[in-house]
Amino acid sequence: MSTAMIIVVIILLGLTVVFIHDKTQRQHTILRNYPVIGHFRYIATAAGAYMRQYHYLPDWAERPFNRLDRNWVNRSSRGLSNLISFGSETSPTFAFRNAPFPVLDEEKHGYQGKVIGIAEGPGHSKPYMPKSFFNISGMSYGALSHAAVTSLSRGAKMAGIWMATGEGGLSRYHLEGGADLIMQIGTAKYGVRNEDGTLSEDRLRTIAAYEQVRMFEVKLAQGAKPGKGGILPGNKVTPEIARIRGIPVGKPSISPNRHLDIGNIKELGEFVNRVRTVTGKPVGVKTVAGQPKFFDDWMHDCVQHPEHCPDYIQIDGGEGGSGAAPAALAEYVGLPIAEALPLLVEARDRHGLKDRIRIFASGKLITPDKVAWALCMGADFAVSARGFMFALGCIQSLKCSSGNCPTGVTSSDVRLIKGHDSTDKAQRVMRYAKRVHEEVEIIAHSCGAADPTELEPHHVTMIKSGVNDMRAPST
Ligand SMILES: Cc1cc2nc3c(=O)[nH]c(=O)nc-3n(C[C@H](O)[C@H](O)[C@H](O)COP(=O)(O)O)c2cc1C
Repeated sequence: MSTAMIIVVIILLGLTVVFIHDKTQRQHTILRNYPVIGHFRYIATAAGAYMRQYHYLPDWAERPFNRLDRNWVNRSSRGLSNLISFGSETSPTFAFRNAPFPVLDEEKHGYQGKVIGIAEGPGHSKPYMPKSFFNISGMSYGALSHAAVTSLSRGAKMAGIWMATGEGGLSRYHLEGGADLIMQIGTAKYGVRNEDGTLSEDRLRTIAAYEQVRMFEVKLAQGAKPGKGGILPGNKVTPEIARIRGIPVGKPSISPNRHLDIGNIKELGEFVNRVRTVTGKPVGVKTVAGQPKFFDDWMHDCVQHPEHCPDYIQIDGGEGGSGAAPAALAEYVGLPIAEALPLLVEARDRHGLKDRIRIFASGKLITPDKVAWALCMGADFAVSARGFMFALGCIQSLKCSSGNCPTGVTSSDVRLIKGHDSTDKAQRVMRYAKRVHEEVEIIAHSCGAADPTELEPHHVTMIKSGVNDMRAPST
């Protein structure tokens, strides 16, 4: 055999070994789905740190999430250190006001928790006491693969956090891990609809009978597409998804722009009350801020008719994500969370509903600094969708609606989903949620608060010189 032949044989043997290794390891979906060539991604990523000074994109420049934030989630989910060297790479638009005498380790206490719902009086139900202030925002089974939903459900259970179903209904994958769940009722009422699209109280009762389903959520809007219902392209509507949603296989699943039976504040209150009465569980509303007067009128109605009161409101910033959204809505419609959250908090508190209605904030709140900012600004809880997608291994390839997500997170292609190992990814979800918890506590202690529930507006201030994602209010 010639020398050249020997070299070729050695290279082929080497590649075969790498191929077998990549296919059998369980930590990297990219390598399982793209054996051998997938290594170029890791080589390019590692080399990038050294090449950036020669005009590669800086770490804070990528959209929608910069590499710094994505790396933070990625490293946290893998249990790696997030300590940085030399100095900060960003120029934030807000800063926490550190206390001159921060909280000592002996003085800090665990998260106190905040109950959702009331046990007695108008609008009563079985209150829910979450264990965490950071939880998983709704993403449908359909937008996400079954493997991703399973990973989230298992990881959420291990971390002691809740997970919202998104508008695609409740699937066996949500239930499998045993996590606390919020069942979302989208404008098409998937999972709880009659054939004509109206609310089925029988289906609602069946779902409420699951102990794991702790609350229900009426979705008015999400930040990526206010005024447009859910969009699931036909290639993602498999027989199982069609069955859960109650729609035909292979046809696009398009929800109406709003609930057909909710066209004003009174009807919204009546619908909330109806769902709560049927299920006996707390009911929230997810929406996006547009006109401030709406919050004022809504809170006024809640005071006049306490039975109309939602137990929580999730306020989603206009920068929120989606599996599929029209670009014009995603880019330009809906106030960003930095403007929306203070508006809602102010309206709720002015009407004396601070202890009655909990506020969840969402919109790129994926790192401890953003979560702590939201808590300071009056949110009772922060929730994230894409933070948890990164924990699942999402690489921001922006292919959610195609079904061809390379990491199996939003794929509908079984070959790509196969690479996603739910045992490993559930651990990552758990580690990420816990790291956010720990580091929000570190910020709280630095500000002199013994636990994150004590964070208040005076602990944070906007600063002008930033180049970061968080935009300052325009007022
Ligand atoms: C893939 C994907 C699917 C989503 N599906 C839903 C959904 O079914 N219902 C909903 O209310 N929001 C949905 N959202 C929006 C998120 O729940 C969340 O409100 C938004 O992305 C902001 O959080 P984030 O910035 O942490 O991602 C989805 C988002 C993504 C990325």
